[in-house]
Amino acid sequence: MHSISEYQSFISSHFSELSIEREPKNLYEPIQYILSLGGKRIRPVLTLMGAEVFDANYKSALAAATAVEVFHNFSLVHDDIMDDAPLRRGHETVHEKWDLNTGILSGDAMLILAYQFFEHYRPEIFRDLAKLFSKTALEVCEGQQWDVDFETRDDVSIPEYLKMIEYKTAVLVGAAMKMGAIVAETSQENANLIYDFGLNLGIAFQLQDDYLDAFGDPLTFGKQVGGDIIENKKTYLYLKAVEFAQEDIKEQLLHLFSIHPNNNSDKIASVKTIFNQTGASEATQQAIREYTFKAFETLEKMQIDHDKKAVLKTFGEHLMSRNV
Ligand code: IPE
Ligand code: IPE
Ligand code: MG
Ligand code: MG
Ligand code: MG
Repeated sequence: MHSISEYQSFISSHFSELSIEREPKNLYEPIQYILSLGGKRIRPVLTLMGAEVFDANYKSALAAATAVEVFHNFSLVHDDIMDDAPLRRGHETVHEKWDLNTGILSGDAMLILAYQFFEHYRPEIFRDLAKLFSKTALEVCEGQQWDVDFETRDDVSIPEYLKMIEYKTAVLVGAAMKMGAIVAETSQENANLIYDFGLNLGIAFQLQDDYLDAFGDPLTFGKQVGGDIIENKKTYLYLKAVEFAQEDIKEQLLHLFSIHPNNNSDKIASVKTIFNQTGASEATQQAIREYTFKAFETLEKMQIDHDKKAVLKTFGEHLMSRNV
């Protein structure tokens, strides 16, 4: 097995060679644009790792890894439309730089392109990859719909929130790993265990994403800080603050999350203060640790070498301490 930085450089050079320069330009340029902005490339790295954990060469998993990352980028282009987000990876979002229709159609095309990468595999592997991918993609849509539905609800529970983030985010992280396992043709049991590892890591990842959305550094975060507060997103931070707050603060928070003021800076500042003073920020950090450790427990059940487990664990630890 390689080191994390080696997997990252395999993926980064692979994507720098991937060119989607075709006609019509207004369809393909936005695709090239969003893919060239990079991002952390976590999911394709996990696919390569998933393959090598089960003794396949990472190169055999490159097409599947590309499919996962292209799908992820498709979901971001549409997510930014749904979340009215101006900024992605430190640059204008696709629908801001072009327009709404461009974001919709380029996103659609990316979803199809993602599927095409599975054509690199022989029929049995193709079938298993496509089956997992279709199931996962549908779950992502379900999670995204819940996320939007929750914006206008004031009675979202923690279990509902956890289900929502499992679907919109964690299943893709699990699937990214399992695709590596499928390419490696390992046992069903191993494939399912690595999926569970990814799933729990993915839940921790989205909790951290929610935390950074409020408390990230605007200079390095690459997205609009406070975007979730502006959109009244029912994040873990929010739900814990509602749970922990005294009655008057709770009412203030519920009110703030029912309005769309013209100027958001006061709302963002007030909400962040409440998140910190109620202990919601600390509770979120705690939950991130818990789901990461849950992922590590799954790892212990896997019949793989100690040094392979160590690489996966280090990756999980890196994710926990990230600030973008
Ligand atoms: C953002 O994913 C969307 C979430 C599921 C939280 P990433 O944080 O992996 O985005 P990039 O690809 O690194 O930009
Ligand atoms: C995104 O969740 C999940 C998907 C893209 C499917 P977010 O809306 O929190 O992601 P960011 O914060 O915009 O990256
Ligand atoms: Mg978003
Ligand atoms: Mg969203
Ligand atoms: Mg987010």
